[in-house]
Amino acid sequence: MCGIVGYIGKAEAATVLINGLRRLEYRGYDSAGIAILDDDRLVVAKAPGKVARLSDKAHADWAPELLQRACTGIAHTRWATHGPPTEVNAHPHLDKSGNIALVHNGIIENYRSIRSRLEGRGHFFYSETDTEVLAHLIGECDKGDLFQAVCDALHQVVGTFGIAVLSSHEPDRIITARRGSPIAIGIGDGETIIASDVSAILAHTQRVIYLNDDDIAIVTADSVDVRDLHNVPVTREIAELGIDPAAAEKGGFEHYMLKEIHEQPDALGNAIRGRLDFNLGTSMLAGMGTSPRELAEIGRVVLLGCGTSLHAGLVGEYAFEDLADIHSEVQQAAEFRYRNPILGSRDLVVAISQSGETADTLAAVREANQKGAFVMSLCNVVGSTIARETGRGVYLHAGPEISVASTKAFTCQVVVLLMMALKLGRGRRFSREDGIKFAREIESLPALVGRVILQNERIAQIAAEYTNNEHAFFIGRGPMYPVALEGALKLKEISYIHAEGYHAAELKHGPIALLQAGTPVIAIACDVPGKDKILGNIEECCARGARILGLVTEGDYATAERMHDAIFIPRCHPLVATIPATVALQLFAYHVARLRGCEIDQPRNLAKSVTVE
Ligand code: G6P
Repeated sequence: MCGIVGYIGKAEAATVLINGLRRLEYRGYDSAGIAILDDDRLVVAKAPGKVARLSDKAHADWAPELLQRACTGIAHTRWATHGPPTEVNAHPHLDKSGNIALVHNGIIENYRSIRSRLEGRGHFFYSETDTEVLAHLIGECDKGDLFQAVCDALHQVVGTFGIAVLSSHEPDRIITARRGSPIAIGIGDGETIIASDVSAILAHTQRVIYLNDDDIAIVTADSVDVRDLHNVPVTREIAELGIDPAAAEKGGFEHYMLKEIHEQPDALGNAIRGRLDFNLGTSMLAGMGTSPRELAEIGRVVLLGCGTSLHAGLVGEYAFEDLADIHSEVQQAAEFRYRNPILGSRDLVVAISQSGETADTLAAVREANQKGAFVMSLCNVVGSTIARETGRGVYLHAGPEISVASTKAFTCQVVVLLMMALKLGRGRRFSREDGIKFAREIESLPALVGRVILQNERIAQIAAEYTNNEHAFFIGRGPMYPVALEGALKLKEISYIHAEGYHAAELKHGPIALLQAGTPVIAIACDVPGKDKILGNIEECCARGARILGLVTEGDYATAERMHDAIFIPRCHPLVATIPATVALQLFAYHVARLRGCEIDQPRNLAKSVTVE
């Protein structure tokens, strides 16, 4: 989704800003723009398409001396909502005078009424965006104090925003504010960097202040003054990121996605490290902040998420019921608050979100808090809004995930859910021996995943047989059903093949009508309960000419022979096997997309972090 970078300091602002935008490219966008201050004059460049195009334009339009002089600016990548991704709709937008520039993430919901009011007062708008209306409103409120003008304007808007504002009349500062859309401020040495995502800050500093909703900050090269929208100072602590900037590089891989798939043994190792207790046969998840007694009182687990995180929740649902004997259900976060959920203090609500910024999941967290449930989160991005608002939960420690298609975050989400289920299970029917046995299975996961990754070349060869189809079906049963959903999602996201995941038994209730000679059916036929049934379902597909790619347990050659192609999954507990099985499907999707020449890390129309509802 949209990205913001702001810079004030001693370096060439345009270079810092464009490099920052490149760091945000992974979030998904379709146009970009930049405004820098040349003495007391704002200069703006915008372009549809990629940041590289914006960079070419800025370097063509602006003289080298200008670029060297300008040490302050703001920049943006736009994911179109109001109006198509054209140059005129790209941010920054200017106020009526042309002296104030604004970049904005989020949506100003009442922009139409403000716009017609302003038009009545002689304002003319060039773009179709809600953002341009806010720029004009700030301009109209500006009586010589930009900070106050932004406050006054923000009091009039309804909706969400993360903004950075620059005025040629106050060149020593950038004003930034947030409501529902993240803003982090990196504190460097004589320079300050504002960004909607710390990826754009990492190259400069590890010291960051996160704004809370309705915070507004006056940012200079060597100070950050945070207040609320009523101009009352607030204290926000400086957090140390502790992220190695190299972790956000491709490290020799052709794509971030491939790198992140290969990182999974390490990522899982990090998610597991220090969290298993082989003496008591349980897990230690301090962030949950619960005593065994509190855990024993939990009557239901409600898992919330969107996209891939929702699929992780679906695996978790099986785990909580199977291991912990506790009623568990998954709800799509976007639907949650609109259905007026029935929740109480004995319900544990777990919000699952890689980014910790997904607007629907955040709204669901707030609803669950209102209803008095016991709310915690499972996030990857440290310090993200959902992690901070829930106050308790478990971080994934998967490291930065740059590819839009989520891979290592999913497998780490599942492993953390398995550990949570083990912890709850030990307070219920799970014996110490059972607990130790399951903890050992979890411990072996990095090695199990490594065995799947070793098949990378073979999977690439298999993928070559599946590149020309426009439809594919993924089928599974039990905990492998969500794996089928996730496998289908991966394939469609990055290869643009229409792929659907179904419970294997459901295929014959409709989708089987679409099978033709050669239609790919990817069947998860590992040694898990219900395997015999899925073999029957595979026969039904074969009888209609489908081409079957099976995920088969290592050593089960009899099953492998019944498939056209097979990928082998190490033998392990069925819940644990969901992780290596998913990794196999990630590699399959990756190679199909690569062979089809797709833009894997930034698929069309998709965004990494969806901050609008
Ligand atoms: C977007 C991403 C998905 C992700 C989903 C939820 O759609 O493209 O990969 O699964 O958002 O994101 P979250 O950060 O909440 O896990």
